[in-house]
Amino acid sequence: MNDPSPNPKNDSSVPRHVAIIMDGNGRWANSRKKPRHSGHRAGVKSVRLSVEFAAQSGIEYLTLFAFSSENWSRPKEEVSSLMNLFVEALRREIDELHRNNVRLKFVGALDELNPGLKEKITQSEQKTAANSGLTLTVAIAYGGRWDIIEASKALTRRVSDGSLQIDDIDDAEFAAELQMSDIPDPDLLIRTGGEQRISNFLLWNLAYAELWFTDVLWPEFDEAVFDSALSFYAGKQRRFGHTGDQVEAVRC
Ligand code: FPP
Repeated sequence: MNDPSPNPKNDSSVPRHVAIIMDGNGRWANSRKKPRHSGHRAGVKSVRLSVEFAAQSGIEYLTLFAFSSENWSRPKEEVSSLMNLFVEALRREIDELHRNNVRLKFVGALDELNPGLKEKITQSEQKTAANSGLTLTVAIAYGGRWDIIEASKALTRRVSDGSLQIDDIDDAEFAAELQMSDIPDPDLLIRTGGEQRISNFLLWNLAYAELWFTDVLWPEFDEAVFDSALSFYAGKQRRFGHTGDQVEAVRC
């Protein structure tokens, strides 16, 4: 799944997998003299719109960074209003997502979440597990370094119990222990809110992603902005370490 080798015969101008860092909710709220949580609430609308637009555009996988490992250190009230918002959004949206054939998945340190949210997550994953449309992955309590450390522990256990030889550890063995093991690597990363950094998102999986940044704040992210990111992607030649001539030669 994580093989980064080029496959230009199947190449498409539409990314198979788009990952999004949804940033700027707090600044959107501040600029309207509203509390930060109203920015997060407004952000749910952009989530809905992005899911619909991704499905219509032929994107197969959409992954959203909803809450990072580091976000636990935000003020207590903001953290608990975000957790409540996740439960509320799941309760409100799950039937519609299911009707639209969306398969919902969650990645992250889900054991750290409160029992009510964990239960909603399990129910939503089970309800939509057999759907064959867009796979929507939500990263909650997720950190790229945490993911890599957990994968390293799993590999170490396998070496200790003799089921894996150290010299057999390669890209594929490592990727198979990561949270996104059953999903191809993102082709395109979008970050809203003006910052140009990865912020401990899918550190391993983003190795070959095209990166697109916009100043638009997440609550103002809409179809037109998403479409600009897709146009940027369509204009890229993906080389995966090969030369441009090599990629062109395989295409012809
Ligand atoms: C970052 O903006 C955003 C978050 C930490 C939360 C994102 C959550 C949502 C959009 C809610 C809905 C999500 C789902 C999946 C239902 P920020 O608060 O860091 O903004 P700032 O940089 O302007 O302060």
